[in-house]
Amino acid sequence: MSKATAIAPTNIAFIKYMGRKDEALRLPENASVSMNLSNLLTTTTVEFSQTFRKDTVTINNEEREVETVRVIKHLDRIRKLAKINDRAKVVSSNNFPTGTGLSSSSSGFAALTVAGAKAAGLDLSERELSILARQGSGSASRSIPDGFVEWVDADSSEESYAKTIFPADHWDILDVVAIVSTGRKAVKSSTAHQSVASGPYYRARIDRMAQKVQRCKKLIAAKDFPSFGALCEEEALDLHVIFMSAGIIYLTSQSLELIKLVPLWRNEGLPVYFTLNTGQDVHLLCEQQHVTAVQKKLKRLECVREVIVNEPARGARVTGEQLF
Ligand code: PMV
Repeated sequence: MSKATAIAPTNIAFIKYMGRKDEALRLPENASVSMNLSNLLTTTTVEFSQTFRKDTVTINNEEREVETVRVIKHLDRIRKLAKINDRAKVVSSNNFPTGTGLSSSSSGFAALTVAGAKAAGLDLSERELSILARQGSGSASRSIPDGFVEWVDADSSEESYAKTIFPADHWDILDVVAIVSTGRKAVKSSTAHQSVASGPYYRARIDRMAQKVQRCKKLIAAKDFPSFGALCEEEALDLHVIFMSAGIIYLTSQSLELIKLVPLWRNEGLPVYFTLNTGQDVHLLCEQQHVTAVQKKLKRLECVREVIVNEPARGARVTGEQLF
């Protein structure tokens, strides 16, 4: 019997993953680049025991059918690798709203992977953990390594993993998350990944992705904030064009109100850019020296309910381990 607890950050993709070349293995159509977020965290404890009659999954003190099915599938992957049959008790909590587009599945499946692998007695490398996390939720592969991360483009499960491209202390940029609604998003990202492929602009997007990834990495290396920010905005809008052309609208009037203000703030001399995920919340990117001014701007807006400032962070790790 064993039990382990892990903590994992969510991550924000600058160059996004949307659409898969292999559904079952969660192999993305393109590589992506992200940063782990210091203040959007999931903590998960997994306990395996022969005395448990079934798997139980509690997320934020609730047992939700849909999440439970997906978590049990992931526990099965871990059990298969560890060659065990014990049922598990999983208790997980997020320090932020779930299901609104803040990428709780990235931190959730990264924490589940690290805690589950440890509790099952597996000794996996960072690459193996990333591959395993990817099969639970694609973006979770990027929450395993530290700092600024690339999930590489590959055609097989063994090659499709995420790795650190720069450590967390490489660049003092911040992701200021503006929560504009706590309502659950209408379309889950798993569904979006399937729906976008048939849209009229999807192939044109995919053809440009390798070049975008290279450019993003170069701009992070050079710490060229204005060019990096412009690329992030262009990519976020590109993603939402792909959603809208597949009939999926995540942005609310509050999201639009906010993203329309960002270029105006830049015209006033505040270097801030936005990016978006599946969901309505807006991620504002700025350098450390401008965060107070960005927070001030957000405080004045009625459409913003909560602001969470994130620095580049480490990846998932075990926090406590108990062997019986
Ligand atoms: O890992 P998923 O299935 O939650 O998909 C993530 C999709 C985006 O957040 C829109 C993009 C990304 O790369 O994180």
